[in-house]
Amino acid sequence: MTPEQAVPVIAIDGPSASGKGTVAGCVATALDFHYLDSGALYRAIGWVVLEHGVNLEDELTISNIALNLNVDFCGNQVRLGTRDITKAIREERVSLIASRVAALPKVREALLERQRAFRRPPGLVAEGRDMGTVVFPGAALKIFLTASAEERAERRYKQLMEKGMHASMTTLLQDIRERDARDSRRSVAPLQKSADAVLLDTTGLPVKEVVRRVLALYKKAQRAP
Ligand code: DC
Repeated sequence: MTPEQAVPVIAIDGPSASGKGTVAGCVATALDFHYLDSGALYRAIGWVVLEHGVNLEDELTISNIALNLNVDFCGNQVRLGTRDITKAIREERVSLIASRVAALPKVREALLERQRAFRRPPGLVAEGRDMGTVVFPGAALKIFLTASAEERAERRYKQLMEKGMHASMTTLLQDIRERDARDSRRSVAPLQKSADAVLLDTTGLPVKEVVRRVLALYKKAQRAP
């Protein structure tokens, strides 16, 4: 086992707006672990693609953007070089492009080592779609978080409203369903629960309760031989 592999990882995967971000952030804080929001990497690439009008068929150019992405996470801020793109990458137009670039195999490959580099002592909570299946297959605990599409659309709606951003429930629900379908059907690292992941359906559950369950599962996983 390399020193890196000895660092525990909690992998939290699941569909859009399933609450992964909030839950993963709280679990990382509770354990004083590092935190990786892998979706933010795909979103940052999507943002650059939009900004420069790159053709979505041009996989080579987009994978080069991924390899050279000068992205930084400072607290809750996502920075690209000197620009603060925290808010911009949450816009629906970026969500749609992020889902398209995430389906490109070369882009996923380009991000692999960058994501693995987040595994540093004392531990890492990593959230996304393929954390437990591809990026950290040896994770100490794998969680697959889900919730009904309607509840997820409602959560996204509230989030956007709180941020003062415009949204329509009908469009959000439609976007979520489209993205679920694309994320689940793509040929590389599709969104799927691995056999060794614990399924947590958060429909109707408050964040606090979900966090409590994840922490309890982690404690149990640590005790397992
Ligand atoms: O989790 P999110 O909604 O911020 O992710 C944005 C997009 O990136 C989403 O369409 C799925 C994709 N993604 C992915 O394919 N693999 C990951 N590990 C994380 C996100």
